[in-house]
Amino acid sequence: MSDHKPRFHEIWTSRWTFILAATGSAVGLGNIWKFPYIAGENGGGAFVLIYLVCIALVGIPVMIAEVLMGRWGRSSPIHTMYKLTDECGAPRAWHGIGWMGVIAGIIILSYYSVIAGWAIAYILKMASGAFVGISGEGSEAIFADLLSSPMTLVFWHSVFMLMTLMVVALGVTRGLGRLVQVLMPLLLVLLVIMMGFSIRYGDFGAAVDYLFSFHTDDLTVQGVMEAMGHAFFTLSLGMGAIMAYGAYMPERAPVGRTVLTIGILDTIVALLAGLAIFPIVFASSAIEASSGPGLLFVSLPIAIGNMPAGVLVGTLFFLLVTFAAWSSSISLVEPAIAWLTETGRGTRLQGAILFGLTCWILGLGTVFSFNYWESARLFGKFNFFEFADFLTASIMLPLGGLLMAIFVGRFMARKRIEDEVQISRGPVFSIWYWILRWISPLAIGIIFAIGIARVFGWY
Ligand code: PHE
Repeated sequence: MSDHKPRFHEIWTSRWTFILAATGSAVGLGNIWKFPYIAGENGGGAFVLIYLVCIALVGIPVMIAEVLMGRWGRSSPIHTMYKLTDECGAPRAWHGIGWMGVIAGIIILSYYSVIAGWAIAYILKMASGAFVGISGEGSEAIFADLLSSPMTLVFWHSVFMLMTLMVVALGVTRGLGRLVQVLMPLLLVLLVIMMGFSIRYGDFGAAVDYLFSFHTDDLTVQGVMEAMGHAFFTLSLGMGAIMAYGAYMPERAPVGRTVLTIGILDTIVALLAGLAIFPIVFASSAIEASSGPGLLFVSLPIAIGNMPAGVLVGTLFFLLVTFAAWSSSISLVEPAIAWLTETGRGTRLQGAILFGLTCWILGLGTVFSFNYWESARLFGKFNFFEFADFLTASIMLPLGGLLMAIFVGRFMARKRIEDEVQISRGPVFSIWYWILRWISPLAIGIIFAIGIARVFGWY
């Protein structure tokens, strides 16, 4: 069955290696840092509900589509799209999916690396005992101090970029894949421990109520758009990362079940992070739920600083956050690197240097968003970081996902898809296929159109 497919890249050694690598890509800052703060900015419950619905009705179906496109094409997203458009007789404009993904990955990595740099800085702060017995105000002051020092931020941003490029230059299976097998379960355990402490130390009831009851007051059109965008962001969808990993997936592995496992794991990590962070937010008068990107870095250290063995737990926690970010960041450049090596124009190392430098320079914009350029506004509302985030997470990823859903749902032969997906031929396949053809594109399209119109003030 597989002989007609050129095997340019190594194939993962087993279905589990794919699950772990894709989970490594999915679980990252999106779950631990971003989900809690955007939930907080958008008023909690209603946002969380929309996010969960988007994961189920859009994220998981599109993820199945993206994996199977990758496995079908067996090359970088750009070349996979070339191959698929040819094979399916689709117009060449569909090549755009691959190119847009590469660009989105580079922009995302540019700010992702800056935030991951904060996490690295926090490993040392934790280890030094700076948070022992800390108050809410004290924790805020430490974070504000970090943000006000662009040189420190640039330094840690550079460290993280170097870490990422090192693994990327070394290659996929030899790289982080193995490490992630050990670290991801550890991260999960640590989050459970933190949540346990938050239950004792913080206001767990208020957190549960905030995250799971339906308050619509603070939810805006842009919030709905952010919730959908986040479903893509957190599952690493719509830009080719999952397509690139899908290209390395073994032939006979069932795509449907595998994707479902990843989606569930990813959601559990995000909810655990929320349940560890919000009890502290509600127990401390110094922190607002809506305080923005600093939420994780201000709130958790308060609990950590006041728990037994806090220095150890805190150090380990930010170490694991860094690793989670690391296994995500490599997937952000993988589409670009895979493309470059396939064209024969450069080696993985050269690609790593080229794309790494681009991300590093772009990342300076995010660094300065928190100090020098704090009050500069693009389109009258975004600072540089917010704009990069909005452009990628709220626009490029959902657009990529929309196009993938349409491509698989409308241009690929159903019979071929059935063979590829192996969700068993029964009703499960039909339900997925129907959701992919109708529900996912419609949901993305509607939220997208209304969101863009509202953000740019067109109505
Ligand atoms: N899913 C990653 C996270 O949640 C981020 C990411 C987005 C990675 C897109 C790859 C592609 O942190």
